[in-house]
Amino acid sequence: MATTAHSAQQTLFTNASQVVTCAGAARARRGPEMSDAGVRTDVCVAIDADRITAVGALRDLRVQFPGAREIDCRGGVITPGLVDSHTHGVFGRPRYDEQEMRAAGLDYMEIARRGGGIHSSVRDLRTQSEDTLFELARLRLLRLASFGTTTVEVKSGYGLTLADELKTLRVIARLAEALPLRIVPTFLGAHEIPLEHRGTAASRQGYVDLIVHEMIPAVAAGKLARFADVFCETGVYTVDESRAILSAARAAGLLIKLHADELTSSGGAELAASLGATSADHLAAISDTGIAALAQSATVATLLPGTMLFLGKTKHAPARRLIDAGIPVALATDFNPGTSPTPNLPLVLTLGVSQLHLSVAEAVIAATVNGAAALALADRIGQIAPGFAADLAVFDVRDVRELPYWYGDNRCIATFARGKACYTSDLGLT
Ligand code: NIG
Ligand code: FE
Repeated sequence: MATTAHSAQQTLFTNASQVVTCAGAARARRGPEMSDAGVRTDVCVAIDADRITAVGALRDLRVQFPGAREIDCRGGVITPGLVDSHTHGVFGRPRYDEQEMRAAGLDYMEIARRGGGIHSSVRDLRTQSEDTLFELARLRLLRLASFGTTTVEVKSGYGLTLADELKTLRVIARLAEALPLRIVPTFLGAHEIPLEHRGTAASRQGYVDLIVHEMIPAVAAGKLARFADVFCETGVYTVDESRAILSAARAAGLLIKLHADELTSSGGAELAASLGATSADHLAAISDTGIAALAQSATVATLLPGTMLFLGKTKHAPARRLIDAGIPVALATDFNPGTSPTPNLPLVLTLGVSQLHLSVAEAVIAATVNGAAALALADRIGQIAPGFAADLAVFDVRDVRELPYWYGDNRCIATFARGKACYTSDLGLT
């Protein structure tokens, strides 16, 4: 039979306490749709090479796929590979010095005004070779995979010159080639106004022009990014500058995202909605009009509670109000050297439940289907259903509610992207 001929590539994941399928519509989930994570018991998952082929009883799948290899999940829980839809994963030196400065009372923006923060990572990245950045990021992204993540969005944004932004995006392209993880590249040349362009209004405009007329065309021509992003924030990019940059990016064929209303309510969410951005991220300071605008749009609200925790802020994004307004919510780490150096997406699920008041099902949908939607990938990843990519995570827990419960712990036993192992723990899977 034809199936036997292919059996080398067919695998059954057996002996799971639960399979958290997240199965359903291949698009962002809103409102009550976020409450159904599709948890099934007594089922196995069949994959063929890089695709999921079936979810069903072991007896049936053994008949359907004779000769398939079997992987024993040891009573663990299988989820779709987690989707981390917002990271700044390519950087050099970690910025632990700023943590103590904040503890002593300096706030994030004050550190930036003194030339620290993003500027400090920019100075550092400009001195680092492509090979060094690649090796640092390779090991760091494998840490993300070790916590259950199989898709990672990675932004540039610590270069802020044409050469250094392209250098960063080439590193991201090499990572996508070298790692089994699925990597989505984002151009964030508008992460800060570089210090050398902050002197006068004309030199500031000169940098915006450089992004629009040189960086975006070069990024698009080299197919080096799928998304463009801007840090739209008081003291960084204004709404008008953000609109100009993102409109140019869209005209060049890039999809768009926005760091919006992270620290102050500055019209970022409204701009994201009006431009048809795929996602608006952060939103801790979103206004009522911002919520109303997103509710009328297709934009995913990506919340990053790890950032607020690490910055010592108590004000979180109004997740419940966003969900109640029918806005699809995603959760991500914001993995970066300044405001969120955690690779642990399950910890962000914990914060989603304890700080944002999500249910476990909502938090899981936010880090799978809705994370996929935040990357315009909801048609191929984020659920365990026939036809979807074989991107899976296996956790050493018996119930999905344990995932945000053992907070800070790493219960991940293995992750697979496109059917290939990204990570297996010492516990191993046989
Ligand atoms: O998402 N807000 C801007 N960018 C990052 C911080 C990056 C940094 O401090 O290096 C963020 O929080
Ligand atoms: Fe960010």
